[in-house]
Amino acid sequence: MIVGFWIAVTGLALVLFLAVHLGGVLLALVDPPTFERYAASLHQQGWLPWLEVALLAAALAHPLLSLHRAHVNRQARGPAAGPLRSRRQGPWEPVAALAGRAIPWSGSLLLLFLCLHLAQLRWPRPAAGAELVAVLEVLASPWCLALYGAAGVAAGLHLIHGTESAVRRLGLLEPANAAALRLGGRGLALLLGAGFTLVPIALVLRPAVPLPAGG
Ligand code: HEM
Repeated sequence: MIVGFWIAVTGLALVLFLAVHLGGVLLALVDPPTFERYAASLHQQGWLPWLEVALLAAALAHPLLSLHRAHVNRQARGPAAGPLRSRRQGPWEPVAALAGRAIPWSGSLLLLFLCLHLAQLRWPRPAAGAELVAVLEVLASPWCLALYGAAGVAAGLHLIHGTESAVRRLGLLEPANAAALRLGGRGLALLLGAGFTLVPIALVLRPAVPLPAGG
């Protein structure tokens, strides 16, 4: 189905962005001066506004198409049908089942987080050399820190289900490669989920390092 195809494509594009974004924010943790130089040079790239428009389109299309598909599926199954249940066995299957049931909640939390996150750090964009200071100002609020941590958990849960669902929608999941693709998808979900949950906490706890004048 064409809607499922676009849900998968927009979802995978957002996962790619998240992987690059986590690499960027990890730099803030391990090497603040390089992080500032990376951010400043990124902002000077002529292609960045186009990438941002594409990202925004994906971030809007993904939930809207998912809502549309959920509505169509509910009508097709009728009110008497219960939620779909997996028959697979294994230590991770209860977590995967929970992630599948929680997909509307994790997605909604991520959307809410994203609105706040962009209002805090993108519009307006911090001045060159002041990116980390702006991030630390945001994370100084315990509510914001809790929301960033919750968004990391939500991203991990969303991707446990989302990565598998996307490769299936794209017709890439075959019996021969299903175990490897499932493991890869769950590994990526764990990496991104744990990364976005722990990096904000680590940024707040790390000892203050004086930044060189001028970034
Ligand atoms: C460790 C947690 C995070 C930190 C410290 C962080 C930091 C930042 C910073 C500093 C910016 C501004 C970049 C700029 O100056 O252009 C930014 C932008 C952005 N962040 Fe995050 N972020 C985090 C988690 C997330 C998560 C979980 C998501 C997705 C759900 C996300 C999505 C975005 C998006 C879409 C942008 C705008 C990118 C652009 O327009 O160039 N971030 N983030």
